Amino acid sequence: MPVSHRIITLDGPAGVGKTTLARRVAQALGIAYLDTGAMYRTLGWKLGAEAENLTDEQLRAQLAGFRFSLSGTGADSVLAVNGVPVGQEIRSETVGMLASVVAKLAPVRDAMKAAQQAMGAETSLVAEGRDMGTVVFPNATCKIFLDATPQERARRRHEQLAAMGQPADLAELTEQIRLRDEQDRNRAIAPLRPAHDAVIVDTTALDINGVFEEIMRHAGRV
Ligand code: DC
Repeated sequence: MPVSHRIITLDGPAGVGKTTLARRVAQALGIAYLDTGAMYRTLGWKLGAEAENLTDEQLRAQLAGFRFSLSGTGADSVLAVNGVPVGQEIRSETVGMLASVVAKLAPVRDAMKAAQQAMGAETSLVAEGRDMGTVVFPNATCKIFLDATPQERARRRHEQLAAMGQPADLAELTEQIRLRDEQDRNRAIAPLRPAHDAVIVDTTALDINGVFEEIMRHAGRV
């Protein structure tokens, strides 16, 4: 791996602000940004919860029909599936939950890990998700784990959905995020947790600029 090739991992629970921050860090460093949640969301949206009832063999056959690719850098990074850029239709909390359901399945995790590692072998990345530092890129140049209280994350997600024209009930959203976290933290394969060598940033009391600066203090040095 050339010295200039770098992988920055950004993991953490739902609604912590990973997507906004990963894009901004990638832009500042001039490298690509990979939203792995968008990959699981695409599968959740296309396969639905019924994926849980398929045999591993049936599921693998379905997964062979999804080819993910990444192009561009920084804010212009584009994740595509079968050549079509992934769109806003996967951004609802309902699709987030479906993503979390299919993300428990071993064939899904195997296929996504292979696709993500192939992208990381090709280009420098800021990779955002749940298991980037622990499983997919254990040798990453810099690992960040973002956290915040569930209430603050629900508040941020509420704001984000409203900005996308998808107003949601705050209490309902708080419960959905709690359930999704529980599922992501307690699954058997690649559960959400910080890598032993990750820098943990509690963002509860920080604004987005404060978190960005904190990440750049670590990521900018590598
Ligand atoms: O980051 P997000 O909200 O877009 O992710 C949606 C779901 O996808 C999340 O609840 C769990 C799953 N996911 C995962 O299991 N592993 C990742 N690396 C990224 C997301």
